[in-house]
Amino acid sequence: MARERAVSGRLVVLTGGGRGIGAATARALAAEGARMVLLDLDADAAAAVAAEVDGASYGCDVTDLEGLPGVIDRIETEQGRIDVWINNAGIMPLNRIEDEPAATTRAIVELNLMAVLVSTKELVRRFKGRGQRDGHVVNISSAAGRSPVAGAATYSASKAAVSMFSNALHFELRADEAGVDVSAVHPGMVSTELATGFTKTGGISPATPEQVADAVLSVVRKPRMNVYVPAIIDTTLRVGGLMPSRLGEWTMRASGGDKVALAALADPARAAYEQRAAHSAPAAEHPEENPA
Ligand SMILES: NC(=O)c1ccc[n+]([C@@H]2O[C@H](COP(=O)([O-])OP(=O)(O)OC[C@H]3O[C@@H](n4cnc5c(N)ncnc54)[C@H](O)[C@@H]3O)[C@@H](O)[C@H]2O)c1
Repeated sequence: MARERAVSGRLVVLTGGGRGIGAATARALAAEGARMVLLDLDADAAAAVAAEVDGASYGCDVTDLEGLPGVIDRIETEQGRIDVWINNAGIMPLNRIEDEPAATTRAIVELNLMAVLVSTKELVRRFKGRGQRDGHVVNISSAAGRSPVAGAATYSASKAAVSMFSNALHFELRADEAGVDVSAVHPGMVSTELATGFTKTGGISPATPEQVADAVLSVVRKPRMNVYVPAIIDTTLRVGGLMPSRLGEWTMRASGGDKVALAALADPARAAYEQRAAHSAPAAEHPEENPA
């Protein structure tokens, strides 16, 4: 049974807090009294949300891996001891793999995976080093890390790695009995710019960023290894895991789940998001701008 923790008064650092799921999470946690520090590549967007939630913000590229320890030091000097770190910043450029520029593959891995590994390690080292028994890292993974998404193979791989890293570390930390926790949150499709062009599949409508924010709030309160949004995804994955693989593949095709990202890839409405993701650092190349 997970121990319940207070949210009020705790210092929570959230990456990618300038929009989408990050902004909704900042609002939900601040409403419960958390002191929010938002990091985002888009300094203006983070500052606007920080002003709303009476928090602080830093313009920051979390893929600057060598600079991350210095950013954490600066936050602790200026804002106080970090209690919770939420790795939320992420990108999902869609591509058929043969069209994916090398810079895009690297950008997805650097942001969605490397920044998560390096920051989690830095925080766990600090939490354990100072005997902070309520230190917590929450990693925003994706249902795409548990169930493959055609047209987002590199993204799926990055999120699968985040989930497995978080789960392995969860057991490592529990075995240490140091009181430090790591959790993985797995949203399905969520109505943010990142999911532009995705349509409802298998009868499941997109969740709202606020629903994901509520799930993050609940896991900050009661640390657990895995959370799914909506919760039915957990059951679907467990049932799918028991199916013979051919039936699993048939179900994926019958539900249209194998086509949804490929359809979004062809949707002109997605261009603005793809351009923004292409400028996340280290810069991803937009295939149409820079053919590989
Ligand atoms: N929207 C979905 O359908 C969905 C589903 C499952 C998981 N997720 C995950 O949730 C997280 C948030 O997604 P979202 O939909 O809110 O995306 P979003 O694009 O709306 O917001 C992402 C934020 O991250 C920031 N960011 C990008 N690169 C950065 C960098 N290098 N350093 C610091 N900040 C950076 C962006 O400026 C932006 O404010 C991501 O990890 C995403 O993979 C999203």
